[in-house]
Amino acid sequence: MEATKTQIFRIDRGNFEKTIRAAARIIRDGGTVAFPTETVYGLGADALNPAAVMKIFQAKARPADNPLIAHVSSRAQIREIARDIPACAFDLMDAFMPGPLTLILKRKAIVPDVTTGGLDTIAVRMPDHPVALGLIRESGTPIAAPSANLSGRPSPTTAAHVAADLAGRVDAIIDGGQVRIGVESTVLDLTSQTPAILRPGGIGIKDIRGCVDEVKDAGGARDVGNARDVASAGMGVVKSPGMKYTHYAPETPVILVEGDPESVVTRISKLIAEYHKKGSRVGLMMTEETAEQVSGDEDLILCPRDNPDAYAHNLFGGLRYLDGRDVDVIIADGSIQSEGVGAAVLNRLRKAAGSR
Ligand code: TXA
Ligand code: MG
Repeated sequence: MEATKTQIFRIDRGNFEKTIRAAARIIRDGGTVAFPTETVYGLGADALNPAAVMKIFQAKARPADNPLIAHVSSRAQIREIARDIPACAFDLMDAFMPGPLTLILKRKAIVPDVTTGGLDTIAVRMPDHPVALGLIRESGTPIAAPSANLSGRPSPTTAAHVAADLAGRVDAIIDGGQVRIGVESTVLDLTSQTPAILRPGGIGIKDIRGCVDEVKDAGGARDVGNARDVASAGMGVVKSPGMKYTHYAPETPVILVEGDPESVVTRISKLIAEYHKKGSRVGLMMTEETAEQVSGDEDLILCPRDNPDAYAHNLFGGLRYLDGRDVDVIIADGSIQSEGVGAAVLNRLRKAAGSR
């Protein structure tokens, strides 16, 4: 694509309103703005302007059949773009909006096809971040925003990550510092008979069970990596088109070692020995406990094993960091519990690792 001049806005004390006004003008004029949310940085454009939404797909080199999430700042805005909203959606909104929950609802005709990848449904989310909410409000329109990375790469958790992927490809980047959560929102489909989690994320399945009688874990416990996996997860068709593509992957190959802590440590030691024998250099991304027992050529310690929130917070930055070091392979420690945000961390690592 043709190079674009990318403006960088840094949010500082005293310039919040002015920054939001300038960025909102770009959105209203049909441009693209990357902005922080509580989960990851998003790349936004007016969700109701097809030409603007096209620019998102171009900037990210994203497949056109992978639909976008419409970010809203109010429930009234959800009603403008969605129809036949089930009662349980309002309970979920009471509990988790604003927050890291995306609901799949039936769409209204006002939403252009490019935004939904031609689907009859629309993903909606109200981000829990003052910059994101301010930008949506000031723009006066729902903002379509996928994660602000080149398609297939780890999602960005800082403005520097966004710039590394998208400088020269988007109109502006708002730098609001490092995000709080670090993995994307939970995607919950409310258009099938039984609500189904299409992507585990910032909100755990247990929390959702508090609001909805029955929830299917379609993308959570097992990896929904391609159409066949989706079918075997009992969904028949690809419900969340994004889940069929390679995702979250650095250029360096990633190996995920899952299981109980003891066998993870044993397996990682063996892998290190094998790679060293071949003359390869190993980058390790691990919990503190694992790091007490193994070491590679580049060691990145993320968190204590019982703190999946911290693992999530450091996950994508960690993958990008090790990708930038002189290593031939990245081995990730999967010895955490697959619970709450831990399920989202393991899901992202499985995708980053492909089948490795
Ligand atoms: O936390 C997040 O959700 C971040 C921030 C920026 O809000 N956004 C994000 O967007 O992760 P993206 O585009 O990277 O992921 C959206 C996911 C994809 O897997 C996509 O296929 C799915 O949601 N999705 C979007 N619309 C859908 C729809 N109508 N039906 C089913 N899945 C949908
Ligand atoms: Mg993404």
